[in-house]
Amino acid sequence: MATIDGVVIKDSVKVERIGVHSHIRGLGLNERLEAAPVADGMVGQLAARQASGFIVKMIQEAKIAGRALLITGQPGAGKTALAIGISKQLGQDTPFVSISASEVYSSEINKTEALTQAFRRAIGIQIKEETEVLEGEVVSLEIDRSATGVGPKIGKLTMRTTDMETIYDLGSKMVDACLKENIVPGDVVQVDKSTGRVTRLGKSFNRSHDFDAMGPKVKLVKCPDGEIQKRRETVHTVCLHDIDVINSRTQGYVALFSGDTGEIKAEVRDQINRKVLEWREEGKAQFVPGVLFIDEAHILDIECFSFLNRAIEGELSPLLIMATNRLIEKVRGTDVESAHGIPSDFLDRMLIVNAEPYTNEDIEKILKLRADEEGVKLDSNSLALLVKLVSTTSLRYSIQLISVAEVLRMRSKEQTITTDHVSKAYRMFYDAKRSQKLLNDADYLL
Ligand SMILES: Nc1ncnc2c1ncn2[C@@H]1O[C@H](COP(=O)(O)OP(=O)(O)OP(=O)(O)O)[C@@H](O)[C@H]1O
Ligand SMILES: [Mg+2]
Repeated sequence: MATIDGVVIKDSVKVERIGVHSHIRGLGLNERLEAAPVADGMVGQLAARQASGFIVKMIQEAKIAGRALLITGQPGAGKTALAIGISKQLGQDTPFVSISASEVYSSEINKTEALTQAFRRAIGIQIKEETEVLEGEVVSLEIDRSATGVGPKIGKLTMRTTDMETIYDLGSKMVDACLKENIVPGDVVQVDKSTGRVTRLGKSFNRSHDFDAMGPKVKLVKCPDGEIQKRRETVHTVCLHDIDVINSRTQGYVALFSGDTGEIKAEVRDQINRKVLEWREEGKAQFVPGVLFIDEAHILDIECFSFLNRAIEGELSPLLIMATNRLIEKVRGTDVESAHGIPSDFLDRMLIVNAEPYTNEDIEKILKLRADEEGVKLDSNSLALLVKLVSTTSLRYSIQLISVAEVLRMRSKEQTITTDHVSKAYRMFYDAKRSQKLLNDADYLL
């Protein structure tokens, strides 16, 4: 809390929702792809993390088309967490689409269409575009307003580089753009000639003494050299599915916002495939194959698997990652039992990574990480109690108790969470096992 002239300035409270996996920031590997015991919010699970690191490397080197990865392990072993780690490790430039297998079953579109859309959302295309821009330091900006304040505004913008200086006449659209961006002399700006968009690149070093009160976010840049008018290459990244939607005549781009895309005709897709492959040949576009992650893969049925069998071999296929906690189970839509509820011919195409159950030490570290993520203080006894509870309940349940215990702590106005808060929370909410026992006992009474 700061005070200015005796007035206390209280920071506004930041409200941030914390997701179940928000503590995970990557796979926590070093450059030799070895996993550190705790890094990037990931704890233990060294072998699986290292294997996932290899997959990331192979995706980045584009060596893994036509493949699929399966993450197996007990409930709560960290399968989804591993997939999130992979996505974070890949970075923002690689598309990562995550669905739960149940999303494939919808009354509006059929299963294979839903899967095709998911596949195509996971393939990025970088399209290069050359644009003409004006780039320089603003020397002066004059704006003439009419006396009444209505009617078009006009103005003059003087820009310079280290080699030249030019005056440009501004129409009302450009004047508005400059006003909106709050452009002042000393700014280094870029003006897109075709759209008239004005972007501030920063403040010029030469004029930095003019800005005595600069916020920490102000970037100081050099005054550009050479000509003011330049050609700039801009790269747009879109996914194949977006191109499909925009080009399917029945939907149009409005569907992109409503999300209501319906089915897209095969001819449209074929045409787009041909077009983007052509662009690639001509060097206009580049493919960025991403990752499609399907959680709870045992929910998929035999038709989905037979579709996937073929789809992952396509030229434009992302890497497929699946996760399941099932052991031996019937493949949906058949009477055949198979490992993980996945047909054996499909399993044969997959690389399989197993998430091992955690040791008590790892569990303690994960719970501590979660407490830090939620901004909660646990005393050592309450942490030990939460670890102990995991063996009779589950890791997920213990993680949930942290937030409940925190609410109880706030009400009792104590500094840290104690065993009292944890046991109260434990009595307040049932875990799966106790809930089942309750039902069994009720059955017995009936
Ligand atoms: N290695 C780990 N490091 C840090 N946090 C982890 C790790 N493994 C699991 N967690 C956390 O533990 C919780 C349960 O893990 P997760 O949801 O990944 O389990 P799962 O294997 O996907 O279970 P299910 O089979 O039920 O889907 C999550 O909050 C997750 O972020
Ligand atoms: Mg999961």
